[in-house]
Amino acid sequence: MEAQSKSTLSMRDISIEFPGVKALSHVDFNMESGKIYALIGANGAGKSTLMKVLSGVNSHYTGQVFINGQEVEIRSPKAAKELGIEIVYQEVDVALTPTLSVAENIMTNVLVNKMGKKQFVNWNNIRSSAGEALARLGVDIDVRRPVSDLSLAEKQMVLLASAARERCKFLVLDEPTAPLSNTETENLFKVVRFLAKEENVGIVFISHRLPELFEICEHITIMRDAQVVKDMDISPDLSVKQIVEFMLGRKFDEVYEKKTVAIGDVLLELDKLTEAEGRIKDISLTVRAGEIIGIAGLVGAGKTELCKTIFGAYRSSSGTVKLQGVDITPKSPFQAVKRRLALVPEERRKEGVIVIDPVYANITISALHKFLNLFRFVVKRRQFAVANRMIKDLGIKTPSETQILANLSGGNQQKVVVGKWLVADADVYIFDEPTKGVDVGAKRDIFKLIEDLAAQGKGVIYASCEFSEIMAIADRAYVMYDGGIVKEVTVSQSSEKELLYYSTGGN
Ligand SMILES: Nc1ncnc2c1ncn2[C@@H]1O[C@H](COP(=O)(O)OP(=O)(O)OP(=O)(O)O)[C@@H](O)[C@H]1O
Ligand SMILES: [Mg+2]
Repeated sequence: MEAQSKSTLSMRDISIEFPGVKALSHVDFNMESGKIYALIGANGAGKSTLMKVLSGVNSHYTGQVFINGQEVEIRSPKAAKELGIEIVYQEVDVALTPTLSVAENIMTNVLVNKMGKKQFVNWNNIRSSAGEALARLGVDIDVRRPVSDLSLAEKQMVLLASAARERCKFLVLDEPTAPLSNTETENLFKVVRFLAKEENVGIVFISHRLPELFEICEHITIMRDAQVVKDMDISPDLSVKQIVEFMLGRKFDEVYEKKTVAIGDVLLELDKLTEAEGRIKDISLTVRAGEIIGIAGLVGAGKTELCKTIFGAYRSSSGTVKLQGVDITPKSPFQAVKRRLALVPEERRKEGVIVIDPVYANITISALHKFLNLFRFVVKRRQFAVANRMIKDLGIKTPSETQILANLSGGNQQKVVVGKWLVADADVYIFDEPTKGVDVGAKRDIFKLIEDLAAQGKGVIYASCEFSEIMAIADRAYVMYDGGIVKEVTVSQSSEKELLYYSTGGN
């Protein structure tokens, strides 16, 4: 084992601007090897931007960075790597090459280097080195598998293994737990602790799931509006409520008051709906006008499959979807939209939006008919007006409606996906984990808009693995386990505990 010498990293007076946006304003951030740091803040506060300064992506920063007291310039990703800094980005898919094997992905640097120098590649060595990198983290994945076959959690492990293989001193994890199940999160925490404590890596951990910070982080830095507003060691007397108030800059009541809405007749009815590949089986449920139906289940229980089958994105082999008594079982999302269903999908970057298009175009794309004039031309002014209303209602942080979506922070992109479907006129709205990566304040805004839909007599399906959200917003809930519904509850007479009990198959 190499000597556990202490390395320090210090960012001083860091500022950065993008056209129309001051993304960082005089930020200081300090860390040392072997410790785990939480970096917290509302969507768009500047967390990812600050870490992209460290990783050499935001090379136009002003201010100074010191490593072990020596000033360094981080003006490219290559410079960052050479200084021992690695980052695992918010969108893991972007960082991996899906068609290549696990080994090739872990060993990319070595391979690129060898090929650049036209050196011979010994594939046995490549595979065994990649295998060792995974084994060192206690992870068991066959290195010959193509990355496209891996689960999100496995992809993350591949990224961690390749970062750790570089023997980095500082590692940044940007919202690694957002898509993970509880067990996967625990496994990730084990690896993170191992890297910090055994390999002496300094780790920055970004997350919107605040309670989990207490499990692994020793220090917390809270950002708001491009600045650091609080920087302290985590102590047992620090509460989530306090963190939230620093982060939002206002009082925040943790208890959510749900609006009461009159519930009408049955709007949507599923009768024994079964997906062609058996990913969900015999799902029967009803949604009444004005009702918010929770679909509770752990990651992998079949919630996404259910949402997609109702929406026609996955084929059903038997069973029906009825809207106001009429069989409308959609064969495609196109049909579903025509039959007045809307789905806010889980994997936003893949299916929710077009990242190179402006915000207003993304928000209005599924309701273009609303913006036509007499001559059937789209009236941009109307699109702008509606987009601006959504920007305001959801608190989307963007300099204007014409900003390219890719330039928005991760959580704000998610809000655009939600906004897009709120604009579309539908009778039944299906939300699949809509608050993933969204900060606690924005979560409230989304809840309010969903309640407004219910108040207008729409039907809502809200699928989530965060049972506290189901308890807060749903009237009734169905619990899913292994592709089927195992329990129906009236939310006011149920508890998170009960949902958890049934979602684990009654264990
Ligand atoms: N390349 C860019 N061009 C223009 N604006 C940008 C760019 N990168 C970031 N921004 C802006 O800088 C601000 C900070 O964004 P950042 O991604 O750092 O937020 P964040 O704290 O990571 O939020 P989230 O929790 O949503 O991921 C946002 O207003 C964002 O739109
Ligand atoms: Mg971010």
